[in-house]
Amino acid sequence: MNRKRQLLIGIGCALAILVAVKLRADAAGEIERLATLMSWKTGTVVADIGAGDGSYAFAALDHVGLTGKVFATEIDEKKLKELRAEVKKRNLQNVAVVESAEADTNLPAACCDAIFLRRVYHHLTKPKEFDANLIRSLKPGGRLAIIDFPPRPGLDPVEGVPSNRGGHGIPQKIVIEELTAAGLQVEKIVNDWPGDDYCVLFVRK
Ligand SMILES: C[S@@+](CC[C@H](N)C(=O)[O-])C[C@H]1O[C@@H](n2cnc3c(N)ncnc32)[C@H](O)[C@@H]1O
Repeated sequence: MNRKRQLLIGIGCALAILVAVKLRADAAGEIERLATLMSWKTGTVVADIGAGDGSYAFAALDHVGLTGKVFATEIDEKKLKELRAEVKKRNLQNVAVVESAEADTNLPAACCDAIFLRRVYHHLTKPKEFDANLIRSLKPGGRLAIIDFPPRPGLDPVEGVPSNRGGHGIPQKIVIEELTAAGLQVEKIVNDWPGDDYCVLFVRK
């Protein structure tokens, strides 16, 4: 391998590490804010629905302690496999990876003090059924946070979602309409969430 090639590989690796460190720091900051908003404490049981690479679910562990628990759910087979591998690699005893379905979280009933969906609600293809199952998984007094964004130009529409979304994203008004119709009450709306997102906090009375 010549020196130029070695140098390019070195720069590529350094950049990848910097990006990973930045993403982890962003997730930790956002989760800290969410933990305060949702009153997480040691022993709290949290679910991250549509956990993706798990950055947010794993960051949540710092706030619930060893007596708490985090459910990390996904519908995507590859992401599920990677989440399970990461849990095994880190030997995390209080994370449960759950395979989600289109219309169901597949979480146990009344298992959670807090559930959050970050940039996932606008991907739901059966929101009415999914919402009923989200509520079923919340303990009475439990909270649900939806972090999402209004439709953004330049993003391809999401296949299979209801036509009222108006593009890739979802208007906050629709999130509130659907989840209050499902039986939750709005507790707080935060419009200055990082990444130009909003966060709507609901409570199950
Ligand atoms: C834009 S990504 C967000 C990932 C992660 N929450 C984050 O903020 O980095 C949307 C994720 O939702 C997942 N998803 C879509 N529909 C789902 C469903 N019904 N149940 C669980 N996850 C779902 C997708 O597989 C994808 O990983």
